[in-house]
Formats: sequence, C-alpha cells, structure tokens
Amino acid sequence: MNCEERLRCQKLKDKVMSADEAASYIKDGMTIGTSGFATGCPKAVPLALAERGKKERFKINLYTGALVGDELDGALAREDLVFKRIPYQTNKDMRNAINSGAVEYIDMHLSHMPQQIRYGFLGKIDFAIIEAVAINSDGGIVPTTSVGNSPTFVNMADKVIVEINTSQPLELEGMHDVYEPKDPPNRKPIPITSVSDRIGTPYIPCDPDKIVAVVFTDIKDTVLPLTPVNDTSKKISDYLIDFLQNEIKHNRLPDTLMPLQSGVGNVANAVLGGLVNLKFNNLAFYSEVIQDSVLDLIDAGKVDKVSGTALTFSENGLKRFYTNIEKYKGKIILRPQEISNNPEIIRRLGVIAMNTAIEVDIYGNVNSTHILGTKMMNGIGGSADFTRNAYISIFATPSTAKDNNISCIVPMVSHVDHTEHDVMVIVTEQGLADLRGLSPRERAKVIIENCAHPDYKDALMDYYNRSIRVTGEVQTPHIIGEAFSWHERCIKTGTMKKLEEAETK
Ligand code: COA
Repeated sequence: MNCEERLRCQKLKDKVMSADEAASYIKDGMTIGTSGFATGCPKAVPLALAERGKKERFKINLYTGALVGDELDGALAREDLVFKRIPYQTNKDMRNAINSGAVEYIDMHLSHMPQQIRYGFLGKIDFAIIEAVAINSDGGIVPTTSVGNSPTFVNMADKVIVEINTSQPLELEGMHDVYEPKDPPNRKPIPITSVSDRIGTPYIPCDPDKIVAVVFTDIKDTVLPLTPVNDTSKKISDYLIDFLQNEIKHNRLPDTLMPLQSGVGNVANAVLGGLVNLKFNNLAFYSEVIQDSVLDLIDAGKVDKVSGTALTFSENGLKRFYTNIEKYKGKIILRPQEISNNPEIIRRLGVIAMNTAIEVDIYGNVNSTHILGTKMMNGIGGSADFTRNAYISIFATPSTAKDNNISCIVPMVSHVDHTEHDVMVIVTEQGLADLRGLSPRERAKVIIENCAHPDYKDALMDYYNRSIRVTGEVQTPHIIGEAFSWHERCIKTGTMKKLEEAETK
C-alpha cells in the first residue's frame, strides 16, 4: 500500500493508528457524525466500536448522511449501542431497533439536517468519522463515493477521525464539489444555475489539528442488489414515459426535459431504466442518489450531466463504473446533500422529481415512510426536498403490496409525508393520474379510475360515493372512522393473516 499518495499531510503521519485505537476515543453519550449515503461510510472504526460494545456498555447518537452499510447501522444496532439515530436508514437491524423502541429515530428532510446542525438544533457533534480516498497536505479530506453531510460534520465536530479506504480508487478525486452555504442572516444565493456548475472545492476543508486519528482500511462497501425489472415496474415506466412525451408534445417541457431526480429503490431504478427508450438526448440529472440506470443512460448517449450526492450502484454497476471511471467522472459531480437536495436550486433548475410511495390516498396525499401507519420503513429521505420544489412532482408505486393483499391506493393515508398540495402525478402499473389543476373531488375519481387495482376499485369508489352521501359535496369528503379502518376492511376475505404478518415484519 502506498501511504504517501493517500496521506499527503506530514503533520498527520504520526496519527496513523489501528481502528481499535481510534474507536477508543468514542465515549458514552457522544454524538458521532459519519460520512455515508448508501456508500462511503466508515467501516473499520464502527466495527471496532461494535466489538468494544460486546465488553463495555455505552451508547452514542449516530448521525449520518442517509442510509449506511451494515458495518455501521447493523453492527451498532445489534450491540444496542445507539441511543438516537438521524436522518435515514434502511438496515434491517436498525429498523427493528427503531420499531421496538430501542432506538430513538428522527426522520428528517435530508437537506435540512446540515443547517440544523450548524444552527445548534441537534446538539454538539463530538466526533466526525469520515471515509476518504486521501488527505491533502493542508488536511483537506477527499471523500469516496458519497459526500452527504460530511462537510458539516467535519466543520462542526470537535474532533475528526479519517478512514482512508484503499479499496476506493484515487481516481474518484476530482468528482466532488464541496460547498457549505453561510447561515441566515448572511446566506447568499447558491450560485448554481446549471447542473454541471462547480462552486466549491474537490475536498472537504479541514484543519489538520482537528484530525486525531487516521485509520487505513480496505473494507469494501456492501452494495445492495437490485431486483430485475419486472412487469409491474416496466408498466409504471411505460406510463411515465408516455406522460413525459405528451408534456413535450404540448410544450410544457422541452425535448431535453428538465433535470431529472429519481428516488431510491427498485421501482425508481426501473422507471429510470425505461428512459433509455426515449428518443430524446441531452438529458441531465439533478438528483440525490445515482443508481445503475444512470450508467445505462450515459452509455446510451442520453445523459451527459449528472449531479448527486452519492453513487449507489449495485455490485455490477460499481464494477462497470470503476472499469470506465474516466468516462463517467467527466459527467458526474458529487455534492453535499445540502446542495444536491437544496430547494432553491431544485426550483431554479426546474427539476422533475420522481419518487416512490408506500401508499397514496384518493386525494393525492402520500405516505413514503410508515407501514400501516405505525412502523417505520426507511424514512422520508430527500423525497420531500424534491417533491415540494419540483417543476413536476411524480410518485410511483405498484397498485398493491404483499401479493395483492394490500391496496396501495387508500381512502386516507395512514401517515402523511407529502401532502395533496405537493403531489402532481401518481402512477401505478394500472395507469397514471395527472392531478394538476384538479380539485380534491376531481382527483379522487381520476386516482381511483386510473391507478387503483381492479380488485380494490369498486370498494374505493363505493367509499368515495358514500362519503359524499354522508358529508355532501364538501371540499374533501370522508367518513373519518371508516377511512382509518380501511386498512383492515379492504383486506380480502381470508387474508387477514397476511396483514398481521405485514404488521409484525
Ligand atoms: N403496505 C404494506 N407494505 C408495503 C406497502 C403497503 N402499502 N407498500 C410497500 N410495502 C412493502 C413492500 O411489500 C416491500 O416489503 P418487503 O421488503 O417485505 O418486500 C417494501 O414495502 C418495499 O417496497 P418495494 O415495492 O420493494 O419498493 P421500493 O424498494 O421501491 O421502496 C419505498 C419503496 C417507499 C420504501 C422507498 O422508495 C423509500 O424508502 N422511499 C422514501 C425515501 C425516498 O423517497 N427517498 C428518495 C429521495 S431522493
């Protein structure tokens, strides 16, 4: 291993130590801010911390960019070492710890978190633990495959631990654009007027005196497999592409579209994959995560400008990216999530936001986070950062879940993440509902007719019609008690067990 080319700061040579030694700095009650946004989280120090937790009782608050690897969320949750977790997670053990009450979880808009840390709303950050490809001679930290909240954690933490990961190629250097806005009342407009604008530094500025430990590791990111595109996601994608083409035809969109944002998960990746079939070129992405389908679009010559905060490729996608890194590097910029998800820029660029819902109600409110209204799935992530500020906001979901036993179109969502005021388009494999310019009662008919599964359509229309009989043609007809009991009532005969299974999952 050539340490010289990765650790370029003379002052820090004697700070190189083992992960165990570095982990010993972390004490009970501390708040730790780590790098990581699906990829790029520290691994060696958290694993050492988890090992220590087998012998010693302590708890920390864990703040990250968004979801992080099992070496961090999973390992610490299994040892019951986390008191509070912010802002987004997808790890099974962390999710179970949250839903059993062992972890206090704050589900927060991703663009809000860094400024709330600087404002002092989330307490003091004791340690930042950051994965890097290198440290520059002046202490500047070159991140790996994500930027997330790292600049703010480094800026605000008392002390910094850097994990230099030699499995991450040095060629990543130059992809990042790190910029931290000033806080009100001194904030200035963020000077991004096009997807490919660079406004910051290719590293995270850091006073080397703040760095107390440098740990070398070569643990690779655990990347999530993507499920192959299935019939449902293909149909959703087809409806969406028809919609976009129709928007172009009616001059509501240019033929290069507007910069695209696409959410997390299998449905989002499939929807994006379908854009390869579009006959238009010069598309751009102003997004949060950059999934495999973006590589397909770059290779097909459809996309040449991509901005995000994290590379979240599958194993194959990652191999493909590393094999052709110079080609992709010129097209992709990785920014802090405060900038990738910034409402000011999203609104200025006119981003088309495409996110995934767990359930949608007949008036267009969306639940992205809670299973049956109570259990946390992942979190809101950046979906609302984009949705509320988008040029066009779109939510996709299969019309049913759990082998057709649950309708994803419901009378009233069991938890609200995105309100009817923010949601413009809903699409399922059954069809697409364009809600722009429609009142709630107009929306209900279009959503039920176009998006609900045939097995649930009659029940939903019956609910809507009876609501009108009970309340009259009010702004938003509902039979409140019945709306809340829908989730059980709509389950088809004999499948209650499935609901119980879903609830205990
Ligand atoms: N009731 C009960 N369970 C439901 C459900 C419903 N209405 N809708 C979905 N589910 C379950 C699915 O059955 C699946 O369960 P499984 O893991 O046991 O198979 C799980 O939820 C995930 O659904 P899936 O269809 O695989 O969707 P996905 O991988 O595309 O993820 C979200 C969907 C909503 C969970 C995910 O997109 C998310 O976390 N979104 C919020 C954050 C976000 O949008 N971030 C992007 C901003 S840039």
